[in-house]
Amino acid sequence: MRTEKLVVIGQGYVGLPLAMRAVETGMDVVGLDVDADRVKRLAAGESFVEDIPDERLGRALAGGRYRPSTDYADARDFDVCVITVPTPLRDGAPDLSYVEHAGRSIGPYVRPGCTVVLESTTYPGTTEELLRPLLESASGLRSPGDFHLGYSPERIDPGNPTWRLENTPKVVSGVDEQALHRVDDFYRRLVQRTVPVDSTRVAELTKLIENTFRQVNIALINELAVVSHHLGIDVWQAIDAADSKPFGFMSFRPGPGVGGHCLPIDPCYLSWQVKRTLGRRFRFIELADDVNHQMPEHVAHRVMTGLNRLGRPINGARLLLLGLAYKRNTGDMRDSPAVDVVRHLRALGAEVRAVEPYAQPEQLPAGVVVVDLTEREVTEADAVVVVTDHDCFDYDLVTRHARYVFDSRDRCRGPVVERL
Ligand SMILES: NC(=O)c1ccc[n+]([C@@H]2O[C@H](COP(=O)([O-])OP(=O)(O)OC[C@H]3O[C@@H](n4cnc5c(N)ncnc54)[C@H](O)[C@@H]3O)[C@@H](O)[C@H]2O)c1
Repeated sequence: MRTEKLVVIGQGYVGLPLAMRAVETGMDVVGLDVDADRVKRLAAGESFVEDIPDERLGRALAGGRYRPSTDYADARDFDVCVITVPTPLRDGAPDLSYVEHAGRSIGPYVRPGCTVVLESTTYPGTTEELLRPLLESASGLRSPGDFHLGYSPERIDPGNPTWRLENTPKVVSGVDEQALHRVDDFYRRLVQRTVPVDSTRVAELTKLIENTFRQVNIALINELAVVSHHLGIDVWQAIDAADSKPFGFMSFRPGPGVGGHCLPIDPCYLSWQVKRTLGRRFRFIELADDVNHQMPEHVAHRVMTGLNRLGRPINGARLLLLGLAYKRNTGDMRDSPAVDVVRHLRALGAEVRAVEPYAQPEQLPAGVVVVDLTEREVTEADAVVVVTDHDCFDYDLVTRHARYVFDSRDRCRGPVVERL
């Protein structure tokens, strides 16, 4: 029997782990990407996704089961195609041009009996209203009827060693019963548990519920942190105490804002669609977005007042920022709130130096001097600001030698430390 052929469109944080997993379960995988440089590096065994070590990629390449490519013609005769291209916002509205491009490009290779699944995060209706017509007109085929179409949201959590692709339940859907069956069959080979739902719209909404839930709860706790500071109450201790309740409470932690590819963006897909379809505002999402966006300025303001108490103006002060990626232990700078923290601090006249061991230097905000975390850097700084608390930082060194530490992540303790 012929080995099943999978095409994964987009070889990013979502597509590459999926491709690797499929190779390991015995499929032939073509990883398509429009980024020629990325494809070249992948073909040379160089992974840029922290969760996929070069050795794992190397094994997939050496086994002849994984082929990265920029050429859609390599998708010919595929059995399953999964689309994992970006879905960013442009001027506050969903930008589905990448999904459209992928749909138009793969359309000519859609044949009777094949399955196409969209994984990119998007508003309910995208699979059936936007992707389906593109595939149908490019292929001359129909779904349901000729080919199977479905949606399955991605839950990948970069840098999480516990919850990986294979042990995180995967929600699956199809445009009809048969498509659901095919999509479910495919994912059951990759993950331990699938969660079938009745329609692609339900699956699309599931992802948006998950991210909106996080965005709103983080905003709630961020606003609580701001008001608790003014009330003179230790919010961190209060959250920990509340977390001792064994039911009905889930702990979220304050921070300098939200970042990454999901939280600042995905809920806006939902509020945009609600506005477009129902003509009404999704107030929780708008409010949460607003609160979270104010956090970088709040951090800068707190650093300024902290320095002021020490008799040091922020104008001309030397600051050492720890961690600029949006997320702990990753180098992912996408939509990182650290960029705004830096902007506000520099606008106040501060000299900003930063330690960011994971991100590529060219992705760091302009005007930041990148340094290593050394005793000298800490002693010579007027303030150390913990923005993203990577585990590799020596917090002990920081608290022993810093004059003043502003900690937005609750990692440091001691007389010179002030927490968000
Ligand atoms: N990164 C995450 O943690 C995460 C988690 C859940 C869901 N998602 C969602 O998954 C989708 C993909 O996210 P990602 O983080 O993998 O993005 P990414 O930017 O890391 O990767 C996307 C890749 O797609 C490529 N691409 C763009 N247009 C293409 C096209 N027409 N044909 C072929 N390749 C194309 C890009 O060059 C890029 O390499 C998004 O909708 C995102 O919201 C991401």
